[in-house]
Amino acid sequence: MERRYLKCRELSQKRAIEIITMINRIWPPKDVLSEIQHSERYIAKNKNNDLILYLDCGNIIAHAMSFTREIKTDYGLMKILAIKGIAVQPEYRGNNFGKKIVLDAFSNLDTKNLNLSLFQTGVPSFYEKLGARTVKNRFINSLNNEDPQSNPWWDKEVMIYPGSAEFPDGVIDLLGPGY
Ligand SMILES: CC(C)(COP(=O)(O)OP(=O)(O)OC[C@H]1O[C@@H](n2cnc3c(N)ncnc32)[C@H](O)[C@@H]1OP(=O)(O)O)[C@@H](O)C(=O)NCCC(=O)NCCS
Repeated sequence: MERRYLKCRELSQKRAIEIITMINRIWPPKDVLSEIQHSERYIAKNKNNDLILYLDCGNIIAHAMSFTREIKTDYGLMKILAIKGIAVQPEYRGNNFGKKIVLDAFSNLDTKNLNLSLFQTGVPSFYEKLGARTVKNRFINSLNNEDPQSNPWWDKEVMIYPGSAEFPDGVIDLLGPGY
């Protein structure tokens, strides 16, 4: 297994299409776009984000993305590590690749000198095993002109890593859409 660390903007179109094919397989998209269109959008939207790919014989078997985000709490602004698109190809699950790629993504906490990662998930028990914990704050996105008070997340749980990190009470403004 080979690990690649790169910025999203460094992806070749071929590799981006491969990622989109994998992501669409796991989270089928709502909009009717070709994989080329999806991949172009994926690169443009995420161009400065850090990407981790695990490859087997040149094929992507696991994907993780991370980036720094500033959020607003009752105590002021806070920089956090955002992670998204954590996925292992179905055929490769149960071999610790998920655990390894998430811990690889969390290692950016040290590189970027951040205290914690904040993310949403539908599989909280997977992240609990890695040392994350659920937070129950109300989340908003004040930059959403249509509905600035609505919850910007769509998964069932929001978590922080490490679970031992302090996280403020009260409303958290993501200052942007969920991820
Ligand atoms: C969740 C996912 C990344 C796990 O990948 P994986 O490679 O199968 O997981 P690992 O083999 O590294 O498992 C590590 C540990 O987590 C546990 N685990 C794996 N998937 C789990 C799940 N869905 N729920 C709870 N625990 C899970 C394993 O049993 C293992 O536990 P152990 O250390 O006690 O043996 C993978 O199932 C996946 O891509 N799912 C679809 C996309 C998704 O839900 N991504 C997360 C988005 S936030």
